[in-house]
Amino acid sequence: MSATDIRRVGIVGGGQMGAGIAEVCARAGLDTLLCEANGPAATAARERIAVSLERAVQRGKLDRPSAEAALDRITTTAELTDLADRQLVVEAVTEDGDVKTALFAALDKIVEDPAAILATNTSSLPVMRLGMTTGRADRVVGLHFFNPVPVLPLVEVVTTLHTAAQVTADVTEFATDTLGKTVIQSRDRAGFVVNALLVPYLLSAIRMTESGFATATDVDRGMELGCAHPMGPLKLADLIGLDTVASIAESLYDEFKEPLYAPPPLLMRMVEAGLLGRKAGRGFHTYD
Ligand code: CAA
Repeated sequence: MSATDIRRVGIVGGGQMGAGIAEVCARAGLDTLLCEANGPAATAARERIAVSLERAVQRGKLDRPSAEAALDRITTTAELTDLADRQLVVEAVTEDGDVKTALFAALDKIVEDPAAILATNTSSLPVMRLGMTTGRADRVVGLHFFNPVPVLPLVEVVTTLHTAAQVTADVTEFATDTLGKTVIQSRDRAGFVVNALLVPYLLSAIRMTESGFATATDVDRGMELGCAHPMGPLKLADLIGLDTVASIAESLYDEFKEPLYAPPPLLMRMVEAGLLGRKAGRGFHTYD
């Protein structure tokens, strides 16, 4: 199977990343099946995509007929077995190793075409560990998108020790030519390229606030106005989700045992308190 043969795509997980990936696939003209845990979650994912498509129309990035056609290409389901005929499945569930390994083992039994590709959008977990729960580790690869997926042009392609060279080539061509993204290649190390650089920076900003060194607003303003970042580190942590930032930090710390990756206590307390950032209405900042 070459990249241009990939027409039927499945996405597992309809949170901000999964919904974003489904949206870019549908906008690229693909038959897109989005699988969520239950009916209400599937409906919420579809609504998230509709809102994002409307935002693209309002911002002049997409005409209304194209937005409507994209939404029509997305089917939602709560049955994992509906993914049986997919040529590419992208897993985008919560950043939890046990959940992801169980899912890959299930997908291996469900997806019928032996040439299909099973990809993960994990931010930091070893792709190899997911591949080894399947009988087709050579067809398992990392395909890591960035939030907001319809806006940010990058995809990291993560190749494991078992990923077939043709699979890496096919998903690279798929992300580039079909989805219109720009690809960088990474070996299978916690954090890949971007999060290995980004997360220590976010953690430093959290430690700065935690120690009373500067307020969250001033830390963000410093990086926005002093370094021209589109958003400061604490706003960005809120956008990513503080639970996700904590999970990535824990994976990085597990892998490298370097103090710069250790999640600060304030981050862990906020996660335990449910102050997860933008999606919860409150993190380092508050949201409507
Ligand atoms: N579809 C298509 N385009 C859209 C869109 C949509 N749904 N929504 C917005 N856009 C476009 C807008 O048209 C605009 O484009 P132009 O600049 O060409 O006009 C652009 O996106 C910015 O949109 P807005 O002006 O509405 O919003 P903004 O200026 O407030 O920017 C932001 C918002 C894009 C989130 C910006 O602040 C940003 O890029 N922040 C940094 C995000 C970032 O670093 N993400 C990476 C997180 S790390 C990660 O995701 C990996 C991980 O594993 C944790």
